[in-house]
Amino acid sequence: MEKLLFVLLISLFLIAGCSSERQTEIPESSKLEMRKDADEFMSGLRDVLLSIIKNNGLVAAVSVCSDTAQVMTNNFGVEKGVYIKRVSFKYRNEINNPDEFETEGLKYFEQIQNEGKLDSLSEFIKVVEENKISYLRYMKPILVQPPCLNCHGMEEQIMPEVRELINSNYKNDKAKNYKAGDLRGAVSIQKVF
Ligand code: HEC
Repeated sequence: MEKLLFVLLISLFLIAGCSSERQTEIPESSKLEMRKDADEFMSGLRDVLLSIIKNNGLVAAVSVCSDTAQVMTNNFGVEKGVYIKRVSFKYRNEINNPDEFETEGLKYFEQIQNEGKLDSLSEFIKVVEENKISYLRYMKPILVQPPCLNCHGMEEQIMPEVRELINSNYKNDKAKNYKAGDLRGAVSIQKVF
């Protein structure tokens, strides 16, 4: 009898253990919302960047990718009430260094890229608990496109004036030597869940 009770208790313990490990169900509507925010943010940034390159040239555009990107990121976050940023392992600005969750997401994107499965629709999404608060965390990859090489390509692809400006503004720049199609980083969004 005692043995049976013991087995029963162990089984209950195991079942309970398993269920708390289960992934929290994330409603489709929440995923859609995160996806929409990420796309809106990235296309806004790209539009401003491309129009400045066209109208004012590459040197002026360096400041768009630096100051304007930071301002737009902050404004977008405040307006939507979310945490949002761009992150990368090979960052130019160290404030774009990934945290623990973002490192996991970037590794996931690298892994699926090696398997030839990464595209602009790829996502990484998880519920993460921090100080007893649940957050929905979401990431979408940023891929290198040909115009990006003007500032993130091989040294010789970057105009001397642009290179000088970047080198003097970012002493520890890691964001060069990319090729079109490379994983540049990701946009990361976090909301209370
Ligand atoms: C005119 C030069 C220029 C062009 C063109 C450019 N970037 Fe950047 N990029 C920068 C600079 C400067 C930074 C540093 C921004 C900062 O200080 O936050 C940066 C930062 C980034 C970051 C944030 C991570 C990091 O390295 O700090 C990402 C992601 C990024 N760029 C992606 C792109 C993509 C994708 C394109 C093409 C669509 C692109 N960039 C085109 C200059 C450029």
